[in-house]
Amino acid sequence: MLANSVASQIDLHQRWGGVVPEAAARAHVEAIVPMISEALLSSRIALNDIRAVAVTNRPGLIGALSVGVTAAKAMAFRLNIPLLGVHHLEGHLCSPYCLPEVPPFPHVSLVVSGGHTELVLVEGFGQYRLLGETIDDAAGEAFDKGARLLGLGYPGGVAIQESALRGNSKTYSLPKGLSGDTTNFSFSGLKTAMLRLVEKEGSSLVVPDAAAALQETITGVLCERAIRAAEDANAVAMTLVGGVAANLRLRKRLAQACERAGLAFFTPPINLCTDNAAMIGIAASWRLAIGETSDMSLEPIANSDLVPK
Ligand code: KG4
Ligand code: ZN
Repeated sequence: MLANSVASQIDLHQRWGGVVPEAAARAHVEAIVPMISEALLSSRIALNDIRAVAVTNRPGLIGALSVGVTAAKAMAFRLNIPLLGVHHLEGHLCSPYCLPEVPPFPHVSLVVSGGHTELVLVEGFGQYRLLGETIDDAAGEAFDKGARLLGLGYPGGVAIQESALRGNSKTYSLPKGLSGDTTNFSFSGLKTAMLRLVEKEGSSLVVPDAAAALQETITGVLCERAIRAAEDANAVAMTLVGGVAANLRLRKRLAQACERAGLAFFTPPINLCTDNAAMIGIAASWRLAIGETSDMSLEPIANSDLVPK
């Protein structure tokens, strides 16, 4: 990895308490050229040294995706090099492939981000089977909405993690969502329970205790279902990827659960968990190696499943 430049829009989203699509798209327009220049500068390579250009084209906010797709097409056209559109979740799935040892196949990947919570069986590169998913909110959304209810601000995941350090997770009890022998998730009940807790306790609410309870409940459910899915599928390893994989409590709990279950455990460094371009490059390098490319008709796509149902 020669460079991994990230243009954060956290300040912008903080102003609104979340992502406003039009504002995000405009910020992308402003950031794209400086970002490409910065990446080239820090990688110390010239534009003419680039042999292919990869871009996230699905799924996501159409305005933001089109900025990247348009810039990538312009580069590919001008430099006369291959273009490749990459699925955002495939980027996350491939993020651990930057580690010195590539996770052995078949492995189960717990993909947890602001928009997705999925358990994917990875049988080989590009061979995916969906083992479980959320039926409502994503895990990252549960962190973000919980943080907002607790007045901890945006983005919620890190805020909950920090507040929870000073809290007792046993003070309040929160629902785990779906019960029984399932590999799916439901986090919307958690949001309602948090709202009720905040209303009931009023000014006597101990915010760090509530944050710790929320973090413990979300990470507990994620670990339990991930291990179940891996055992049912006879996987040999587990990977933890996506923005929520940056959560230190989740990293620790899943590592311990995998050790108990005899599964090898892999998760990328924190800066490759939250959205970044390097993971898209890693996924693209595998696809380009088997001769895949996109043509100039490549379009941004708002909704797209990694594993077609
Ligand atoms: O993958 P990502 O950067 O963007 C999407 O594709 O959605 O994931 C963002 C999500 C947000 O919900 C954010 O709150 C969560 O990842 N997140 C965390 C942590 N860092 C980011 N959640 C829990 N603990 C963290 N440390
Ligand atoms: Zn993401």
